[in-house]
This record gives sequence, C-alpha cells and structure tokens, in this order.
Amino acid sequence: MKRREFLLGSSAAAGVVGLGGLSLAAGNDAQELVLQSANYRLRDQLTTGMVSLSPDAPPPVLYGRQGKAMRLTVRNTLPDYTAMHWHGLRIANQMDGVPYLTQMPIGEGESFAYEFTPPDAGTHWYHPHCMTMDQMAHGLTGVIVIAEPEDPGFDSEQVINLRDFRLDEEGAFLPAYTARGAARAGTFGNVQTANWRTEGVYDHAAGTLVRLRVVNTDTTRIYRLHLEGAVTRIIAWDGHPVEVEVDLALPTADEPLLLGPGQRVDFAVRMPEDEGQSAALMAKFPGQKKRAMARLRATGQSAARNLKELRPLRTNPVLRPNLDQAEMHEFVFGWTPEGGAPDDGFCGSLGYSFWSINRTPWPGDAAQGTGPLAVLEQGKSYVLRLRNESPNLHPIHLHGLAFVPLKSNLRKLPPLVSDTVLLLKDEIIDIALVADNPGDWAFHCHVIEHQKTGLAGFIRVV
Ligand code: C2O
Ligand code: CU
Ligand code: CU
Repeated sequence: MKRREFLLGSSAAAGVVGLGGLSLAAGNDAQELVLQSANYRLRDQLTTGMVSLSPDAPPPVLYGRQGKAMRLTVRNTLPDYTAMHWHGLRIANQMDGVPYLTQMPIGEGESFAYEFTPPDAGTHWYHPHCMTMDQMAHGLTGVIVIAEPEDPGFDSEQVINLRDFRLDEEGAFLPAYTARGAARAGTFGNVQTANWRTEGVYDHAAGTLVRLRVVNTDTTRIYRLHLEGAVTRIIAWDGHPVEVEVDLALPTADEPLLLGPGQRVDFAVRMPEDEGQSAALMAKFPGQKKRAMARLRATGQSAARNLKELRPLRTNPVLRPNLDQAEMHEFVFGWTPEGGAPDDGFCGSLGYSFWSINRTPWPGDAAQGTGPLAVLEQGKSYVLRLRNESPNLHPIHLHGLAFVPLKSNLRKLPPLVSDTVLLLKDEIIDIALVADNPGDWAFHCHVIEHQKTGLAGFIRVV
C-alpha cells in the first residue's frame, strides 16, 4: 500500500476560499487557570485525585493568535508546588515556566501571571515543569492552539490530546513511576485516552475539511498512529507547517507514524462523503491489535469539499541556520555512571539518577546549582549533535528555540521545523538552529521518568 501525496497539493489551489472558517472565542486572551484536583470517569468508575483546571473536566484547549498578546494567570490551589510551561512557544525566558531556572515554584495559594505574544502559529501544549511527574500523570496536560492570522480554509477543527493513565481495577491511580521503568523505557499507563476518553466520537459535517491536531502529552508512551477512512495530508509537524514541496509519506498500519511525548502532528482530513461513515485515528499498542483512539463521524449532506481548496499554511518566522558557519556541540544521552538522588528543591524527586547528558546526571525539574550544558551566542548558528548511547528511545526537547533536524545515522529525515526530536536506539541526529532567543533553555528527554532521573539540563543563549 503506497499512499504518498504532496502536501497541500499545488499552490494553484491557493485562493479558493472556504466557507465558515474557525471563529475563536473572543475575549479569552486573558484567563485564569486554577490548578485543582478533579474527579473524572476515565473508564467505568470515577477516578479521584486527578489534577486539572476544573473539578470535573480535562484541561481545556487554550486558544491564542499568532502575534497577539496573551495573559494566562496560573493560580495554584494544590498543596504541592508547580510552574507552567508552554511547550513549543518561543517566548521570553522569564515566561517559560521552568522552576529555579526561569522562576520560583508557585506555592499553594500563589499565582503567577504568564504574559507572552506567541510568535509561531500552530499546535502547541502546556504542562507543569515542577512536580512534573505527579501533576502530569494525574491529568495536567493540555493543548494550546495558536491560530494563523489568515484562515487556511478549514470548516472545523478537532483537537486530540493523547495520553495514558495508570489505574487499578477500581479506577484508582497506580504509582505513576517505578524504578524499573525509569531505568528503561519508562512506566506505561494501562488506560489509553484521547481527550480523557477511551472511545471518543466527534461529529463533523460530511465532505468538509477538518484540521485534526494530534498531540502526544503522555509522560512515557511513543504513540504509533495512522488514519483510516478518509483522505488526509500531514500539514504541520511539532507546530510548524510542513513546506509544500516536502513529500511526507502518510502513515499506514504497517508503517505508523511515531509520535513521541511532546510531539504534535496536524492532519488535513476530508470527511467521508456519507452520513454515519467515520475517519479513525488508529493506534497500535505492543501485543495488541490496532484500535481507534478517536473517530470523526460524518453528519448530514456532503459539503463536497476538496483538500486542494486549502491554502498553504504560512511558515512561522523561524530563522534558517547558516550551516557553513555553524559551530558544533555534542550531547551524549546515556545511563548515569553513578547513582544518587537528585535534589529537586520543591519540585519532587523520584529518588534516583539513572540517566545523564554528557555523563552528568542533572536534577529533574530544578537546575539549581548546575551550569549550562552549552553556552551559545545570540544570533549565531549551531549544530547540535544528539547521540543516543542507550537502547531506549528518547524524545529530546529544547525550550525556547526551534530547530531543523539535519541528518541521522539511521534514517532519512524530512526537512521539518521542530522542538522535540525522537532519538531511536543508537541513533545520532544532528539538529541545527539559530540561537535567537536569549536565556536559559531547558533541554531534556520528554519521557518524564528520564527527565526526572538525570536526562535533563539547560542551554544558555547569551
Ligand atoms: Cu514539554 Cu520541558 O517540556
Ligand atoms: Cu518545552
Ligand atoms: Cu529518555
């Protein structure tokens, strides 16, 4: 089965105007987000002790606009400390939400006002960076959508937040991490959800064009995904538009797309023609048959739209690195030479060091007392060589900067713009970037048990 398509078709299609478009709720540029405990029926029974921004619902999708200021005040009502990070947003360092590195942790009863103007449109997300394991594993991971100033012509959109929960038979939380898991691929959840639902069905009008934004916010799992039942294209990857010329293969059941924790993919989906038919986002789990994580069900008469009617997404203002003059820095991700519990300040320690960057284990959430892994000069181009010296996979994430994956020793990499790159077993990937955003930028594996047991650090741009 060869399903290859050029993304977004020819630019000749530009100019065809779709009806409707998306109207984002006005007036939500300033919002208060109240961290609190929540209860929710994830399966048959009510799960208590979840962490969300309302008492009985998943963290909401937050909407903003490219180039438009937002103010999100995080108020903490939990007895634990927190700090909120806006994954994928290249904003000012003081707003990045990394405890000790960019701000002090937010205590019980305290608030922190995050104010920023997102420079890049796209599908991004938010999650705490203090008590990261506890709060994320219990639910606090949400999607933030930054809309383009001009509408590309979709009729509607669907956000899918993929994540697991680790529950016992009664629906109560099992420990989110285990030493055994942390030292290997991580501890996996046993209830896989999309938007906290195990079998979500979402209605969209037949024959319309839907922007499907898929985000992996899990603490551990690399999702293996493909779509069935509709004509689709991949239009963005990790928040950034995939350029029109890039011929990205659509994933299939045999060759699914690997979406690591922290990564996002946007599909343009043309809804099925007939009422009741559905398009399904399929996932494959080890030792199980593939199953639908979410279905888009067609309703009503077909609108008879065509993917070619979409206007290409405008590229985000990411500077292109100058490879001739780029200085190289190397980072080795591997096990840690010696144990010892990292000191995480008020942000929760898992009690072990299993991992390291350049042979040094870093405290998980708190970079207090540790120096930068590299110092980059503002405005200069760099190549970062990422070397995985372990048999486990690592989604390596860099805050505050966008990079271009250049090459791998194992596979051909499509030319994308990203903030999180999945390193396979024994893989070496070169990424390139322009160090255009000053500050201390966290740099870590997004398998949270790896991050919290040593595989974390930061890069300084001065
Ligand atoms: Cu999703 Cu340190 O980030
Ligand atoms: Cu981030
Ligand atoms: Cu890792």
